[in-house]
Amino acid sequence: MKSALSSSSPANGSTTPESVPLLDLSRQYKTIREEVLAAIARVCDSQSFILGPEVEALEGEISALIGASGAVGCASGTEALWLALVAAGVKPGDSVITTAFSFFASASAIVRAGATPVFVDVDPGSLNLDADLVHRLLRTKQPETLRAILPVHLYGQCADMDAFDRIAQEFEVALVEDAAQAIGAEWRGRSAGSLGITAAFSFYPTKNLSAYGDAGMVTTTCPRMAEHMRQLRNHGSPRRYYHHEFGWNGRMDGIQAAVLRVKLAHLADWNRSRQQHAATYDQLFAGAGLTSNPSSDKSGAPVRSLARSPHATHVFHQYVVRAQRRDELRKFLAERRIGSEIYYPLPLHLQPVFSYLGLKAGDMPVSEQAAREVLALPMFPELTEAEIRCVVEGIAEFYS
Ligand SMILES: Cc1ncc(COP(=O)(O)O)c(C=O)c1O
Repeated sequence: MKSALSSSSPANGSTTPESVPLLDLSRQYKTIREEVLAAIARVCDSQSFILGPEVEALEGEISALIGASGAVGCASGTEALWLALVAAGVKPGDSVITTAFSFFASASAIVRAGATPVFVDVDPGSLNLDADLVHRLLRTKQPETLRAILPVHLYGQCADMDAFDRIAQEFEVALVEDAAQAIGAEWRGRSAGSLGITAAFSFYPTKNLSAYGDAGMVTTTCPRMAEHMRQLRNHGSPRRYYHHEFGWNGRMDGIQAAVLRVKLAHLADWNRSRQQHAATYDQLFAGAGLTSNPSSDKSGAPVRSLARSPHATHVFHQYVVRAQRRDELRKFLAERRIGSEIYYPLPLHLQPVFSYLGLKAGDMPVSEQAAREVLALPMFPELTEAEIRCVVEGIAEFYS
């Protein structure tokens, strides 16, 4: 296995690294430090800390990037999901279909909108919400209360938005995107965030476009909804001290917007670097004879990649594999100071807080198996080829 690894092209950084972090934000900071500090100083000089010109400018830039008719800056990706759902018409008593395999906020935002999540299992190849299962569920028993479908573009790859678009039209429900992990991703050349009626992005510090704190953005293809979300993020208030509905304080800070504007100019390059790193991982894994085709889980290969749709431009928020003896492998890598993470160790339908839904182990077998097998490997734009090689060599050693 090792000879296959060492025979490929030379590393950009020839010495073997002593450790490989899962994510190292300080490397990126070094490349943009002056720009970021100048942007923060600009906000301090203006003393405009909440919403204001930086947030408005960022909204315009993201709206143009995504091809949306409106973008509304807010306090976090979780807040963005709530805004997206409420603007799409989700209200108390409704239900919303979403994936059983995502970060908690995909489901908790539904609950916060007063609705009930209806969990559906994921596609075994991509681990995105399974459109066939959603369609089957709706054909057999469409809940009368169903208001929306919320696919998550997991790890930076769009869910099958052709299928979800057809389903949303057939059953007359809103299509809302959880694009928290997918800024810059595309489906058939259209940007994530412009594929549903509303969409939520997170700028949490680990994301592909990340703030220096919490921040999020909701985009929409409907100008009327953008206006509604602007009010909702500011106490349901169209005019200061006049309140038409119960909104919330979900506003974005000027400093976060200023930092995000600096980083937005680099996003395309950073996403390209992630794609190159993913290709390097793929090539090294294949060269070492470690991986098998994602659709053949009986091949006996110790590591399986996830399926990639030919219609999706993946931005690799995470590079995730499915690994045999995953927990032992993770420990082995940690001993060699190689970072990894499990996104996610417990599917949403088995979270104790959702026990009121009456779901049990075995109800979402694909999500449950994924939770036992997935492992995210180091992935960030500044990662070096030598580091990727070190990760794959470590994995090869474990299985040798
Ligand atoms: C799929 C998904 N949805 C929603 C969120 C929530 O975003 P935030 O942490 O900015 O509230 C995240 C972020 O972790 C996420 O990964």
